[in-house]
Amino acid sequence: MDNLIVAPSTDPIKNVSEIIEYARSLQHCADFLHCDIMDGKFVENKTYTYKGLKEVNQRTTMPLDVHLMVESPSKCIKDYLLAGANILTIHFEAYKNKKLLVRDLKYIRKKKALAGLSIKPSTLVADILPYLCFVDVILVMSVEPGKSGQEFIEDIYKKIVELSKVKNDYKLDIKIEVDGGITPPISQKLKMFGADMVVSGSYVFNSDNKELAIDELR
Ligand code: DX5
Ligand code: ZN
Repeated sequence: MDNLIVAPSTDPIKNVSEIIEYARSLQHCADFLHCDIMDGKFVENKTYTYKGLKEVNQRTTMPLDVHLMVESPSKCIKDYLLAGANILTIHFEAYKNKKLLVRDLKYIRKKKALAGLSIKPSTLVADILPYLCFVDVILVMSVEPGKSGQEFIEDIYKKIVELSKVKNDYKLDIKIEVDGGITPPISQKLKMFGADMVVSGSYVFNSDNKELAIDELR
């Protein structure tokens, strides 16, 4: 079984200069920096925007895994791509019009980034099946999006098993990424069930030895 890809998240940190410092301290051991972007509408909290992301991109070498928790992704995906997103993930629930969802996923790929689609804990795998062929990364939320430090929802294991079966049955070239409440024992189970990539907010951030924490998550 391959090692998991590990992406520490920016959510526990409140300003861009500290995010840059954090990213620099982890760039030798983490695979991606998971950039949580919130607009105060799709979720309650509000964070930095594409301007902050651009600065992070200019001042670190860390590949950027951008998780857009915003009400109208169509209005800003271009800005985040130009700012340097390597993976750009939009939320399934943010789109009433699924034609726009497909259009945006295709646009992300056209701009040579990986197209990510995220689902909240209550969204079913069956709901996203028609869109998986437009997706490179599926980001399964294992907490309600909006803040770090919440507890992992155990029901999510079933969703990973289900997604991993779909991926194998249809020979899809997608990565299964899981986000929220992840600790080393949880990440080991997720890996066994077919996850490829995990996000970590508080576990890595609160560890004294962050390199070791990342290693334990793999
Ligand atoms: C939640 C964010 C997560 C968060 C994870 O809204 O999408 O990326 O930072 O943090 P932990 O690992 O603490 O749940
Ligand atoms: Zn996230």
